[in-house]
Amino acid sequence: MKINVLKNYKELSSTVADIVETQIKKHPLSKLCLPTGSTPLGMYDELVNKKLDWKSVITFNLDVYLMNITRPQSYQSYMRKNLFDRTNIYPDHYHFPFRPFSAFEDKIKGSKGIDLCILGIGTNGHIAFNEPGSSFKSRTRVVNLSEQTIKDNSRFFDSVDDVPTQAITMGLETIMESKKIILMANGDHKLNILNVAMNGEVTEDVPASILQNHKNVKVYYSD
Ligand code: PGA
Repeated sequence: MKINVLKNYKELSSTVADIVETQIKKHPLSKLCLPTGSTPLGMYDELVNKKLDWKSVITFNLDVYLMNITRPQSYQSYMRKNLFDRTNIYPDHYHFPFRPFSAFEDKIKGSKGIDLCILGIGTNGHIAFNEPGSSFKSRTRVVNLSEQTIKDNSRFFDSVDDVPTQAITMGLETIMESKKIILMANGDHKLNILNVAMNGEVTEDVPASILQNHKNVKVYYSD
C-alpha cells in the first residue's frame, strides 16, 4: 500500500482536515468516525478554523476508556474540548461507544453507515483499541488494553498506574464497513509499524494490516 509522506505535522493535519472539509461540504449529512490521541489534534484545530457547518453531521468515536467520563483524560472530554464545543455540531449528533453495543452498531449501520473514518495507529499496530490478536471479525466490545498501549498513553496521565486498563472499542469488522478510511501517523516511532501494517503480512497480530483488504484507504505520514 502507498504511504503518502508529507513534509511535516502541519501538512499532515491540513491534508486530512481538507479531506474532512470536502466530505462535509459535498455531503452535509455525512457520518464520520473520529479518533483521539496526539496525532489528530492539529487536524481538529484546522477543522475548527475552517468554520464548517456541522449541523447535519453525525459522528461516532472509535473508542473510549472505561473511566469516569468527567475527567479531563476521558475521550469524551477530549472531543468536547478539541472539536465539539468549538463547532455547531448538535450534542445528540455525536456518539461514543455505548451499551448495549448492538444498539451502538445499529446506530452506525442506520442510513448507510460511516462515510469517512479517520484512524490513528498505535506503536503495536492497533487501530482504535483493537490490540494485537483482535479478531478480524470483531465488533464493538470491551477490551483489555495491552501493556504497550498503557505505557504509550501514560503521558496523558499522572502516572502509568492511573491509565485505565480497559476500554470500549469499535471492532475491526465495524471499522472495515466504513466507505472511506484515512489512516494518519506522525513521528519516526510510527514508521516501522506503519510499513509492517501496510506492506507486510495481513495478520491479526498486526490489527492495522486488515486495512490492506479495504478498497478505499489512504495513508498519510509525517515524521
Ligand atoms: P497517538 O495514538 O495519536 O496518541 O499516537 C494513536 C493510537 O494509539 O491510535
